[in-house]
Amino acid sequence: MSTTELPQVLAHRGGARHAPENTLAAFREGRRRGASWVEFDVALSADGICVVMHDDTLDRTTDLLGNVWDQSYAGLREADAGSWFSEEHAGELVPSLGLALTECDSLGLGVNIEIKTTERATATVSAVLAVLEGDAAWDTNRVLISSFDVRVLLALQASETKFTTGLLIDLADDSEPPGGPNRSAAWAARAQRLGARVLGISNRGLSLDELRRTADQLDQVLVFTVNELERAQALLAAGATGVFSDDLDALGSLLPKHVGGFGGMG
Ligand code: G3P
Ligand code: MG
Repeated sequence: MSTTELPQVLAHRGGARHAPENTLAAFREGRRRGASWVEFDVALSADGICVVMHDDTLDRTTDLLGNVWDQSYAGLREADAGSWFSEEHAGELVPSLGLALTECDSLGLGVNIEIKTTERATATVSAVLAVLEGDAAWDTNRVLISSFDVRVLLALQASETKFTTGLLIDLADDSEPPGGPNRSAAWAARAQRLGARVLGISNRGLSLDELRRTADQLDQVLVFTVNELERAQALLAAGATGVFSDDLDALGSLLPKHVGGFGGMG
């Protein structure tokens, strides 16, 4: 399997600094500011529709309350996912994965779909693959599916999906002891065991030496979330393939300004 070519900067949640995160408006704004790929998070509604949402609950980013997975898709369609961010974005939808992919396709964006940890994490894998595989526009060079959740990676591996997968690790709650010389080898082994070609690792607490050792052992390493240009440059020089960023203006010099792209708006 060829390795999906990832960019130096992925717009985190669409570029959360510029528009309400994980909405169609964010993807459009990310594209307008020069991103070639967006990252967004998904979970299942109560009736099994895959929707784009970061938190377990709707409280922070919509005008509804409660867990995402307790709401039907029809209920979620009533949510306003933009007003919390600005009046200008009032009435933004909580997109279904299908809507998000249609928008990203027309914008010519690559997509990193992050499957969130929920009780229905493995059912979410099936739902994501069904949507992706039902749309010929999505081939392997513009899709990355990732998760912190080992059950998700195992389900992806068992599905024998053609799409590149990524294991996410948050250093704040990683099981490997910090500072140990073998930590990067353990991460690489964990990713390989789960069939993940990409490792995503948190920026906070990551030393450049540790990143260098990790990047030596894996095809591609991404770092989240990086909103300062100097730090992004240092991480890239130490071997990171790319970084996730909320702030596409701060990292503007690292963006391709969408020369080429995957079709769509071009
Ligand atoms: O996929 C990288 C990053 O999005 C993981 O953290 O919490 O922002 O989804 P989070
Ligand atoms: Mg995410």
